[in-house]
Amino acid sequence: MNKIIIANFKMNKTSTETKDYLVRLLSRFDNAGDDRLMLCLPYTSLAIGKFMLEGSKIELCAQNMSEEDEGRCTGEISGRMLKDAGVEYVIIGHSERRKKFKEDSRIINKKIKSALKNGLGVILCVGESLADRNTLKTLDVLKEQIEDALKGLYENELEKIIIAYEPVWAISSGKTPTSKEVEKAFKGIRKIIAADFSAKAGEEIAIVYGGSIDVKNARQFADVKGGNGLLVGGASLDAATLMQIVAVV
Ligand code: PGA
Repeated sequence: MNKIIIANFKMNKTSTETKDYLVRLLSRFDNAGDDRLMLCLPYTSLAIGKFMLEGSKIELCAQNMSEEDEGRCTGEISGRMLKDAGVEYVIIGHSERRKKFKEDSRIINKKIKSALKNGLGVILCVGESLADRNTLKTLDVLKEQIEDALKGLYENELEKIIIAYEPVWAISSGKTPTSKEVEKAFKGIRKIIAADFSAKAGEEIAIVYGGSIDVKNARQFADVKGGNGLLVGGASLDAATLMQIVAVV
């Protein structure tokens, strides 16, 4: 399978800054390459993203959405709106949202169902805290998070799901697990999907690693057995750096 590189801008860049970034990125991007590049932009950068990515195979993605389609949800953005804005995939369940915005498994499951219903793909983030890791609960946490998130989904819907394994303690910390630990987590995730859906689904589900990826370690984590790519936060904010990461994987 070709590699998937997901860039998560988080709450960074105005639409003007995104435009400058995309000018630089597009001048370096090889549209004929085999890998997938997915840019998760802030809502306010989606319009300029759609305009500038027209004709490029870079995928326009968002970082969150409401579980509701429309109505009395002041300040929220729905899957229906994202679809109309040209978005292809949306991140759901990022640990920053789980923690800062108290998103629980019930809301994450509702958001995933709403995204799929609106024709969006989902980048589902899962991962253990440092306390879970230190008490050897990583696989239990992954099982609970994945099963809660995917409850009620049909097997064919998994085609539109990418699971991002992001240990919470590795996000923006400069710390990373070992390749062996990531391999073990990937294997565990495939086992969970195989048990809940089918052996084929367990083999085919797309899984990426995220957490303190930079140019130096990108190749190492992109090469972990059982994985399909990377989710890059901080290091994706510079177009040249992101392109270096794309080049080394
Ligand atoms: P990071 O963020 O690469 O800055 O650690 C990854 C993420 O949480 O999306």
